[in-house]
Amino acid sequence: MHASILLSAIALVLPLTLAAPAPPRGPPSSPTPSEAAKTPPPPPRPLRQPPAPTPIQQQHRLVLVALGTGTQNYTCSTDLTAAPAAIGALAQLFNASCALSSDPTASTQSLGSIEESASIGAHFFLDSTTPDFDITGLGNTEAKKAEEIVSPQGSENVKWLRLTAQATGTTSSVKEIYRLNTVGGVAPANCAGRTAGEVVTVDYQAQYWVYA
Ligand SMILES: *[C@@H]1O[C@H](CO)[C@@H](O)[C@H](O)[C@H]1NC(C)=O
Ligand SMILES: *[C@@H]1O[C@H](CO)[C@@H](O)[C@H](O)[C@H]1NC(C)=O
Repeated sequence: MHASILLSAIALVLPLTLAAPAPPRGPPSSPTPSEAAKTPPPPPRPLRQPPAPTPIQQQHRLVLVALGTGTQNYTCSTDLTAAPAAIGALAQLFNASCALSSDPTASTQSLGSIEESASIGAHFFLDSTTPDFDITGLGNTEAKKAEEIVSPQGSENVKWLRLTAQATGTTSSVKEIYRLNTVGGVAPANCAGRTAGEVVTVDYQAQYWVYA
């Protein structure tokens, strides 16, 4: 627990561009009863990125938090006692920026209702090590895994990742994408009861924190 508390403490506070501006600074004054009635609700709390392998670089700007929902795919080798190997993933992406801005501690599962909104794009793999994100309004981002950590929320969830955008195939201004707050998606321990070459798909959800 100490490690995750420490990581939370050092996580960067990153205001979303859509967050309401801070109230004007001024000397504190206690509002009169009539003013108190008109006091607007506090602005949304800034979005705090969960602890990540490496904190986001200062010059990068959070442009989107997407909920991804789909499958992690694996394939069995001829050794059925071995764990199946990762071959990619396929997920639909939904815009979670607004939902997380109004409730920064919302869990990935609790964001499920935004799936009723229109998908903003897709996450898929060009080959087994090249994730791609095609997002309406942002463009295409071809990425590579830079870092990974076991999910601090439990190893039954796929790892948390830091992905960096590659020049080749990228039309967006995206620089880095973090896969965080993952739910599920882990391969079975072995391929008992399956056949060599069989594809195993495991449902997962994740938050993709997208920086330009
Ligand atoms: C992963 O599985 C999905 C089915 O959930 C399939 O449509 C997709 O083509 C698969 N992708 C890869 C890279 O295996
Ligand atoms: C996501 O939603 C926010 C508003 O909540 C909007 O400002 C932003 O443009 C959307 N991003 C994409 C890529 O759809």
